[in-house]
Amino acid sequence: MHKKVTKIGVLTSGGDSPGMNAAIRAVVRTGIYYDLEVYGIMRGFQGLIENDIMKMESRSVANIIQRGGTILKTARCKDFFTPEGRKKAYDALQNHGIDGLVIIGGDGSFRGAVDFTREYHIPCIGLAGTIDKDIVGTDFTIGFDTAVNTAVEAIDKIRDTADAHDRLFVIEVMGRDAGYIALHSGIATGAEHILVPERKTKIETVIDSLFEKERRKKLMNIIVVAEGDEYGGAYGLSKIIKEKLPQTEIRVAVLGHIQRGGSPTCIDRLIASRMGYHAVECLIEGRHNVFAGIQNNKMNYVPLENVGKKKGTINEEWMKIVKILAS
Ligand code: F6P
Repeated sequence: MHKKVTKIGVLTSGGDSPGMNAAIRAVVRTGIYYDLEVYGIMRGFQGLIENDIMKMESRSVANIIQRGGTILKTARCKDFFTPEGRKKAYDALQNHGIDGLVIIGGDGSFRGAVDFTREYHIPCIGLAGTIDKDIVGTDFTIGFDTAVNTAVEAIDKIRDTADAHDRLFVIEVMGRDAGYIALHSGIATGAEHILVPERKTKIETVIDSLFEKERRKKLMNIIVVAEGDEYGGAYGLSKIIKEKLPQTEIRVAVLGHIQRGGSPTCIDRLIASRMGYHAVECLIEGRHNVFAGIQNNKMNYVPLENVGKKKGTINEEWMKIVKILAS
């Protein structure tokens, strides 16, 4: 029989993502609905280690569902990966009597949580909050849809000026290890080429195709590249292209952190609300130390220790579609 959870903490960790606030709101309000005390932990594991914790009420999360960022702030905390750091974190939880934790973040945050639960047996539930969508066990991560839509809006605007000047644009989107933002935004904006970290691209293929397009006087082209691609993102790639096609006029645009901000889309608010609600249910029902994702529109629970980065899963059929449609 599991111990009944009475006081829960919620934190956001790693890179922020639009929809984290909607998830915090769902955790707080569901917790209160079930008569739990809910505590907000500031700056992720860093705030936990430093005992930066406050009690949350229903009104604490009023008017945040539409806001980007995270009201709890976030951090990438190295100390939590040390036994000393985790001990301080445990002491802080003890101090407030917190006996369950909801962690909204990426795979790095969950790795820290696994060590923590092994050492201190504090039930933890992980929710995927990352724009990269690179976590196993879920079709959605909180923030991905907003980030992709931001990228699409920006690339559409760049296309207007690229067309006006008949230029090649190399546009870099976020994704250190993952090409999902590049793939989705690239297809949705009709990019001629999409380069992602999961898949090697023969540069000659890109050059040959650009050369062929130039021959046909198709001078406006869009290449979308993920920041973690093998050629070094947009600047690295444009340098190589310039060397091979010196006559081509190239411009570079790095979309950067605008993809992490802004008001979350309906999809991100919805999945964040569902995940937040189910995270609290998990804690109450004793379904502990799991990651709560959504697959085929149903909740999918994966033991935290099995959660990792999704690797090498770029859909080859989608890449074929890019090639066919961008002629
Ligand atoms: O949150 C994921 C992510 O946005 C990656 O796509 C990107 O590589 C990284 O975070 C950037 O992190 P930071 O803002 O810490 O430089």
